[in-house]
Amino acid sequence: MTMLKVNNRTLEVTSRPDRTLADVLRNDLGLIGVRVSCSEGECGSCTVLVGGEPCTSCLMLVNQAEGQDITTIEGIGSQDDLHPIQQAFIEEQGFQCAFCTPGFIMSAKAFLAENPNPTADEVSVAMSGNICRCGAYPYIVRSVLRAAEKLRKSSGQQAAE
Ligand code: FES
Ligand code: FES
Repeated sequence: MTMLKVNNRTLEVTSRPDRTLADVLRNDLGLIGVRVSCSEGECGSCTVLVGGEPCTSCLMLVNQAEGQDITTIEGIGSQDDLHPIQQAFIEEQGFQCAFCTPGFIMSAKAFLAENPNPTADEVSVAMSGNICRCGAYPYIVRSVLRAAEKLRKSSGQQAAE
């Protein structure tokens, strides 16, 4: 039995300890926004946040994640209440098939927490662990820049309130 803290909920998972975190999140907990493509840590599509840090969940064993705060794309916004980064990806059309999008958004979330006012080059470097087979990179960079703007505005508004 493994206790996982996922999207602010503590969940009990009965699983062999040698399964990957990505497998458990998708197949036991139904969090299918965690996309698995390469299963080798190369594409970034399975990126989730573990303790606030981006992590390729196809390479982490479920017992290594026990007790840490895990955030998936399902934990940052909903269809009715999109996260500003999700909203920015829609506005800038930062996807084609969208398979890679949750991974990019989770990487962007961690990056923008560290660097709220990045240049386009900094965004490109920060997103270099994520692969988009559709080649939507210019749109993805614009999406992250727009997300940064939205987040700066909302934190400025909160500070003024
Ligand atoms: S599926 Fe995990 S990095 Fe590609
Ligand atoms: S939008 Fe299709 S893989 Fe990125």
